Amino acid sequence: MLTTSHWQVLRLHAERLSAVRLRDLVGSDPARAGEYSLRVGPIYASFARQHLDARARTALFALVQAAGLPAAVRALFDGAQVNASEHRPALHTALRGTLGQGAAARDAHALAAAARLRMDALEQALLDSPVTDIVNVGIGGSDLGPRLAVDALKDFHTGRFRVHFLTNVDGSAAQHLLRGLDPARTAAILVSKSFGTQETLLNGAILRDWLGGSERLYAVSANVARAEAFGIAPGRVLPMWDWVGGRYSLWSAVGFALQLAIGREGFAGLLAGAAELDAHVLDSAPEHNLAVWHALVGVWNRNGLGHASQAVLPYDERLALLPAYLQQLVMESLGKSVRNDGTHVLAATVPVLWGGAGTNAQHSFFQALHQGTDPVPADFIGVVRAAHAHDANHRALLSNLLAQAQALANGAESADAQKRYPGDRPSSLLLLDELTPESLGALLALYEHSVYLQSVLWGINAFDQWGVELGKQIAGELLPAVSDASVHVQDPVTRALLREIHSRR
Ligand code: F6P
Repeated sequence: MLTTSHWQVLRLHAERLSAVRLRDLVGSDPARAGEYSLRVGPIYASFARQHLDARARTALFALVQAAGLPAAVRALFDGAQVNASEHRPALHTALRGTLGQGAAARDAHALAAAARLRMDALEQALLDSPVTDIVNVGIGGSDLGPRLAVDALKDFHTGRFRVHFLTNVDGSAAQHLLRGLDPARTAAILVSKSFGTQETLLNGAILRDWLGGSERLYAVSANVARAEAFGIAPGRVLPMWDWVGGRYSLWSAVGFALQLAIGREGFAGLLAGAAELDAHVLDSAPEHNLAVWHALVGVWNRNGLGHASQAVLPYDERLALLPAYLQQLVMESLGKSVRNDGTHVLAATVPVLWGGAGTNAQHSFFQALHQGTDPVPADFIGVVRAAHAHDANHRALLSNLLAQAQALANGAESADAQKRYPGDRPSSLLLLDELTPESLGALLALYEHSVYLQSVLWGINAFDQWGVELGKQIAGELLPAVSDASVHVQDPVTRALLREIHSRR
């Protein structure tokens, strides 16, 4: 486990480096661009514009052994109980490859393979049916991964089905979606690991009524009994397991809607791309390990330089949903202040993650990135080869991507204080050769591993999310008071708000 002195060392390096401009670090060393970059499969990653030098880098890599990262990676793949508070493994890697050893991993490989056969059979049945539209009903990890991948891989859609997503408990979402669909040609997949999530059950009930029964209702759940009690025939319930976290579940039957959009070969490509990244993470020495680099840069920015915010800036319209997906992956996994042993963390943990697609974001929040008081480290993501014929647009997109990262790092002087760009704003650049199921799988697996490694460095659990429970519990307690004005509520502010709501309903 890391101690206060490890974090102190990082802060001392950051203090030393506060006197060194990022543009000088970059400009004074022609070898830096090469030494701070890695290629893994379809991803080229450059960390050359992170605000660290060789000494800080050595201090960071010293954390790898001190925190036991190699053993932790092995434990993840082998199915050790890395989710300590729930006494479970987190075997998402077993959904896309067969790398782990040990009984838990082997069992998971077999279950995942059997589930894929069932997905293929249900896909075939739908292909043979008159269904044209699929509604994925789910929220959080049962929505964000498939939604991102369906959108990102639109160039790979077979065109056989249109895939829609219904998420919010706000009834206007259902109302607007269903207005444009024909119940005779629509099937719905209720995706919920627990099958106890309020939003999904309410929207699922709307779908069941609208479809006139449960004949074209499918489910993906770890709680088959609840799905069956909802009226879904066992033959149309695809499995999930407690050893897959919701936000790590795209690779399971949670990706069924994606498979219907891009076909089973496309889905297999996504898994293969992730599996290639898995093999890299498991087998590579820390200095050549992309996930280790990404994770160390994360803790450097958070704990060395003290940045409390992190931007994700995909320069590809198809990856516009990536920041939303990563918000759950990163902030639900790392938004903790207590370590696995119950003690308070010794260093700050998760930064606030946010972002948006370039170039659109340049015309909204980039002003703050360039001249705001708080530097925000950024992950820029680019795609080298476009999937369209508008070459002039693509060249403009790439030049904007390169320009923004350079401007943020180097800044620019001006006699006019308003026009001065301070620079020293660090960023990483992840460049995909092209956006395919394989490269998307690799990119998402990279972030998953980086998140896990950061959790090990901080000593926290990346796979539970106790923080979301209190609000759910209070919402359940308040529901009777929203329905009936005479129900007494203890909290005086909530009581006043309820009075206001009831007076205007
Ligand atoms: O409330 C948070 C959460 O539990 C997420 O972790 C999860 O992805 C989401 O709700 C949906 O849960 P389920 O798949 O069980 O409906």
